[in-house]
Amino acid sequence: MQPLRNVTTSLYDKYGVQVITAVVNDCYNRILSDAELSKYFEGVDMNVLRKHQTLFLSHLLGSKRTYNGANLKAAHTNLNVSGGHFELFVHHLDESCKYFNLDIEDRAMFISYIRTLKYFIVNQ
Ligand code: HEM
Repeated sequence: MQPLRNVTTSLYDKYGVQVITAVVNDCYNRILSDAELSKYFEGVDMNVLRKHQTLFLSHLLGSKRTYNGANLKAAHTNLNVSGGHFELFVHHLDESCKYFNLDIEDRAMFISYIRTLKYFIVNQ
């Protein structure tokens, strides 16, 4: 196991945009098949959302492109996402990372970072 300070290559560079796109698509497939979560996405243009989420996560993982989509808090403020639903969403994201064979250290780092975004998303 490498200490965090020794990470010299971003996860974006390590895995590439194809893997990140595949993780995002797989994750939304899981979310839309989950009766607890799918209701949040009724009427949402999923093609746009998949694209924005790919850009956003690529940005978090170290892509040089800036993310120009909606501010995270603004995008979620009217959705009333509960803490439990946030965790379920993160669980699906983690399962998709596992499915596409991200190394366990990378998954741990990525998923804990995603959990720090809870305060922008959960509104209850
Ligand atoms: C876990 C971390 C999450 C991240 C990083 C995240 C990120 C994003 C991003 C980047 C967008 C696109 C904003 C735009 O259109 O420019 C978005 C939109 C959206 N998110 Fe999340 N999200 C998260 C969790 C959730 C959860 C838990 C739910 C619901 C259970 C949710 C539901 C939605 C919906 C419905 C939209 C579309 C809003 C609209 O088009 O009006 N998100 N999210």
